[in-house]
Amino acid sequence: MNNENEMTPLDKARTMLIRYPRFEELHESIQECVEMSRNAGEPHCMSLEGVTGAGKSTLIRTYLEAFPRYETETGTQIPIFYLPTPSPVTVKGMAATMLTKMGDPAAHRGALWSLNLRLIHFLKVCGVKLVILDDFQHLVDAQTNRVLREVSDWLKTVIKETNIPFLVTGIEDEIEPILASNSQLSRLFAARERLEPFPWNNDDLQTQKTFAHFVKYAEQGLGLAFSKELSRIEWLYRLHYATNGVVGNVMNLLRQSAYLMQQTGDATMTLDILSRSFQKRLHKHVDKPDPFAAHTSTEQQPLAADPPDSVGRRSRRRKKRQATAADVLTTR
Ligand SMILES: Nc1ncnc2c1ncn2[C@@H]1O[C@H](COP(=O)(O)OP(=O)(O)OP(=O)(O)O)[C@@H](O)[C@H]1O
Ligand SMILES: [Mg+2]
Repeated sequence: MNNENEMTPLDKARTMLIRYPRFEELHESIQECVEMSRNAGEPHCMSLEGVTGAGKSTLIRTYLEAFPRYETETGTQIPIFYLPTPSPVTVKGMAATMLTKMGDPAAHRGALWSLNLRLIHFLKVCGVKLVILDDFQHLVDAQTNRVLREVSDWLKTVIKETNIPFLVTGIEDEIEPILASNSQLSRLFAARERLEPFPWNNDDLQTQKTFAHFVKYAEQGLGLAFSKELSRIEWLYRLHYATNGVVGNVMNLLRQSAYLMQQTGDATMTLDILSRSFQKRLHKHVDKPDPFAAHTSTEQQPLAADPPDSVGRRSRRRKKRQATAADVLTTR
């Protein structure tokens, strides 16, 4: 395995983790749920919603990494138990999948009641302090769009019987209806968090600074920089436009750019590289014009199909306030 100094930007792009402020804040919220649940009569559960690519799974996987499984004389300890919610999900399927992940050789054997007993027993003896269910939106039946009430009821019982907090994550606006459909489950999930894309508001310099900081971390982590073809603020603006401020989209674009740079030998990320990366990795997904294309000049006019909150008032901003790269990057 290469050491840090021998890694190419592409190697770094594959593995890089950016711990931006909201990311750290959500790790703290998770920690708070675990601590508040200790010795409490009832566990403090949390939900985390966000659009696809917002970084939910990355956030929870990195939290998990700090609490690995370990062996003791009496057996395996699993401080945090992580499970992608199976799809399609049934009560028995969920219980069996959880048991399999805990290492039960007979996970699929027996009636539901015996699976439940074993699951509750294992969660306790393995010292689980938090259960994380990713892609919790699978509790909504894809065919009928109905919440799988049987599964949510079962989950409520497991939470109450084990007294272990649960963190559920999933697609924006798809978790709330699941919790809302079961008032007892809803009450247990008092903490409701969202992982939003980075906003960009032409009238709010703070939004631009926050995005600028994230991009700067990414450039530093990759050991790459944007070319001098555009001013800093223009690069940031176009990058936000291209990605909607979604972390996964930004990383996709930068990873592809690092790959192309390795092929072409370019020393900086140019408009041409970004344009090719956008066409290859984002164009279909975000469904917008390419803001890096040679003919695009956002200095002169707003891009077509600008999202109202991010770039719609661009020409007005240009007249009202010329935010410079220095504005965005030096103060916070
Ligand atoms: N903090 C981060 N630092 C670096 N890369 C990140 C970070 N967060 C997310 N990414 C990258 O963004 C991409 C999408 O992240 P992730 O899979 O966590 O999103 P998600 O919200 O779980 O999406 P989905 O709802 O589709 O499962 C991944 O390639 C991941 O590596
Ligand atoms: Mg995910």
